[in-house]
Amino acid sequence: MSQTISLTEFANRLQQLAAQAQADNSADWSTKYLGKKGLFKQISADIRAVNDKKAAGQALNDLKSRLEAIAAQKNVATVTAPPTPALDFTLPAADTPVGHLHPVSQMIEQITDIFGRLGFIRVRHPELDDDENVFGRLNMAPGHPARDEWETFFVHHPGTPGHQHIRWVMTPHTSNGQVHEMLRLGKPPIRMINIARTYRRQQDVTHTQMFHQFEGLMVDKDVNITHLKGVLDYFAREFYGPDSRSRIRPFHFQFTEPSFEIDFSCHFCHGTGQTDNGDKCKFCKSGWHEVGGAGMVHPHVLQACGLDPTQYTGFAFGWGIERTYTLQDNIDVPDIRNFYNGNLEFLQQF
Ligand code: PHE
Repeated sequence: MSQTISLTEFANRLQQLAAQAQADNSADWSTKYLGKKGLFKQISADIRAVNDKKAAGQALNDLKSRLEAIAAQKNVATVTAPPTPALDFTLPAADTPVGHLHPVSQMIEQITDIFGRLGFIRVRHPELDDDENVFGRLNMAPGHPARDEWETFFVHHPGTPGHQHIRWVMTPHTSNGQVHEMLRLGKPPIRMINIARTYRRQQDVTHTQMFHQFEGLMVDKDVNITHLKGVLDYFAREFYGPDSRSRIRPFHFQFTEPSFEIDFSCHFCHGTGQTDNGDKCKFCKSGWHEVGGAGMVHPHVLQACGLDPTQYTGFAFGWGIERTYTLQDNIDVPDIRNFYNGNLEFLQQF
């Protein structure tokens, strides 16, 4: 077992060494006291046996300064090797860098949690799917011009025996999840959140060919637009903060009627469109940010998915996850492709 040395004893030893060094005039003074294997180095090692490391470390630092002062007085060259910084045993250890979940995964967890509190259950539906689920049952028959709005990747596949009729596409939106969920459950109540990767033939600072969307769907008896609005306002408050609001504006989608675009109030100007001194808000210009689409599920869609549109109604909404980050005031996304190029400096801000 190693012996412990009391702080007083340790301090005495340092004191003695200082006195010895003061009296010593030998030619190798510098190496002897301050050299790599010199007496200071040796006595420093004894700190291991002292309990009060903080005080002992301080005493060692004092001795080091004292020896340096003596060296200066004796006019000896102390610098034989590059100076090593004085040891400070009281400093906390260096932090080890710790990673974290990718921002998209973080957002998926957050979204799942927020809608989960309203009873929407997260489901997973295919990202490579039949054209029929991506467009056909969503009221866009083959050749329908509305299909052009989705910059779709079509996949040439000879077909699996028995499934030659399938025309494969990489899902350009998560709305195919609506179809799958209605067909899977067969009857309401339905409350789902489908979060998945989506693919479009677009690439620039605001688009990546692969990105994420989430899709909400609620179908039941007597579901109406006020329910949709309530859910969107709830999301705005929970996600962006208590004074955030949502707004829906008339729009067109083939699979919803009526259809809307969804805006959220700007967090810089709180929806006023102006800064405190009356200038136009640079971030939003109008007080609102457009994020996604929504609407009441079109009766044709309910029917194509096996539900009776005279009995049931529903709403759906959906938008991109990466884009949602670009609207957060404390996050800087100069180029949306940064989410996927492994740039740690960018990722560390999340
Ligand atoms: N799928 C639409 C899009 O990709 C968004 C949407 C979802 C619209 C649900 C209405 C209802 O833009």
